[in-house]
Amino acid sequence: MIIEYIEEKLQKVLNDLNYDLQAKIIVSNRKELCDYQFDGCFAYAKIARKSPYEISEEIVSKFLKIYKDEEDFSKVEAVKPGFINFTLSNKFINERLKDMFYKEKFNIHMPEKKKIIIDYGGPNIAKPLHVGHLRSAIVGESIKRILKYFGHDVIGDVHLGDYGLQIGQVIYGLQKENIAKENITIEILDEIYPKMSALCKEDEQVKERCAEITKELQDGNAEYQEYFKIIREVSGKDILKIYEYLDVHFDLWYGESDAYPYIDKVTEELNKKNLLTTSNGAKIVEVSKPEDELEIPPLIYQKSNGAYLYGTTDLGTIYERIEDFHPDNMIYITDMRQSLHFKQLFRVCEKLGYTDTITFEHLGFGTVNGSDGKPFKTRAGSAPKLDSLFKETKNAFLTSNPKNDNMTEEDLDILVNAIIKFADLQNNREKDYIFDLNKFSEVVGKTGPYILYTYLRIASILEKETETCELEEKDIYNKEDRDLRIKLLDLENTLKYSYSTRLPSVLANYLYDLCVNMNAFYEKNHINNLEDKKKKESWLFVLNLGNKVIKEMLALLSIKIPKKM
Ligand code: ARG
Repeated sequence: MIIEYIEEKLQKVLNDLNYDLQAKIIVSNRKELCDYQFDGCFAYAKIARKSPYEISEEIVSKFLKIYKDEEDFSKVEAVKPGFINFTLSNKFINERLKDMFYKEKFNIHMPEKKKIIIDYGGPNIAKPLHVGHLRSAIVGESIKRILKYFGHDVIGDVHLGDYGLQIGQVIYGLQKENIAKENITIEILDEIYPKMSALCKEDEQVKERCAEITKELQDGNAEYQEYFKIIREVSGKDILKIYEYLDVHFDLWYGESDAYPYIDKVTEELNKKNLLTTSNGAKIVEVSKPEDELEIPPLIYQKSNGAYLYGTTDLGTIYERIEDFHPDNMIYITDMRQSLHFKQLFRVCEKLGYTDTITFEHLGFGTVNGSDGKPFKTRAGSAPKLDSLFKETKNAFLTSNPKNDNMTEEDLDILVNAIIKFADLQNNREKDYIFDLNKFSEVVGKTGPYILYTYLRIASILEKETETCELEEKDIYNKEDRDLRIKLLDLENTLKYSYSTRLPSVLANYLYDLCVNMNAFYEKNHINNLEDKKKKESWLFVLNLGNKVIKEMLALLSIKIPKKM
């Protein structure tokens, strides 16, 4: 990585000068002045009892002496009041770009391979998928793809919510309305669940009955098990259809119910370590620590009526995953509001010794809001179901881009995906964002269609050209050309940051900036009638590399490219 490369060189200089200073390089925040910078002289001034500028001058003069025979930089300079600015040489830039182009995965250094289970999606079988389920699927799929890109062995588990109170409510409703098992459809489930959920809020007795049904189902009641199997199948088909549309794929289709056979084993382990205590008839695991600023309540393991809860099935699932896969890492992607649950869960894992060999991560996300700043709703006031959201998105795109009405259905579906996913993924996952279909469907601005349009436009130029693309050793022709090349060199840094922070937004924003550079380059530098052969070959090379980056990075965001638009 270029940053690390410069840091290594600089560190040697700092050590030679006996400066107790870490060589931390950052990408320049004023691109017109340099490519990378070092700001460490300021903090060191007090210790060294010199001015920052004096220190920066000393460092630069030593740097230039040590590396006088190298050609990596066209300029390394000390700048008042004490910055050190680095500008890469054309030769260095072009060499690195060639490595990116010809070596696998842009010549990015990959970490040690790990086995990772990623738990995302997490839909509930009692109700159809709605907007609230979008982020877990989209963010999760992207993080999974980024982890795979970095060479890890990644297993995706959908972890269906299938054994909680909601399923008891649906079974109660189906029985109450006399719906025969063979007549259960997704439309019926769609109706029953909200009705029953409202009824439970009003009627304490119904609520209790639903809880009993849930408990009896968990205990193996044959009649309820039959209902359960049908509901899971009907709902599962619908869930699968939506995920297929979104190009989101899971290796495991386990649910909470699949954790039940493992619960006794977990209980045994907890008992061996004396971790279960009783509180008001319920079994709990204490997880608070003296250093906690806010008290962390215990994880409730078993209710006084014997029923198991969300935390219990999560522990059972962890037990099962360890037994089956021996993972190094388990990642969960859910709404931020579940943070406390995962904190409790991971602390129990710590007490059980699991964290000695496994790293657990909860990656939370914020809410998708409407323009009123409240959770996104349809005009009727409910969270829109995903299939109707897809239709609406298609219409919004065609309305704002009427020339595209001859696109194939397949390409339009790709566009819908691009619009929705890019709208989501450009936001830091931890933040809420406002879902504005019309804005997201535009071909200008920070949108999915803009990225796709840029790619297709460059691709159509490249298709017409028959010259080979070859980068020259030293030439870079103008500002737009250089800006694009430097942006391409930023890929490694960006991708690694996106990987280590688990933030697809870093990648999405890079992709947008890259497209801005690609378009600026193209506006300035017309290649079709260019006489200068060397220049033309270089520019073809840069555009080819740019499009290759766009294509591979779009795939990491799970966005496909249409044939035309
Ligand atoms: N079904 C849960 C929900 O709807 C998400 C499941 C997340 N995964 C987990 N292992 N707890 O919020």
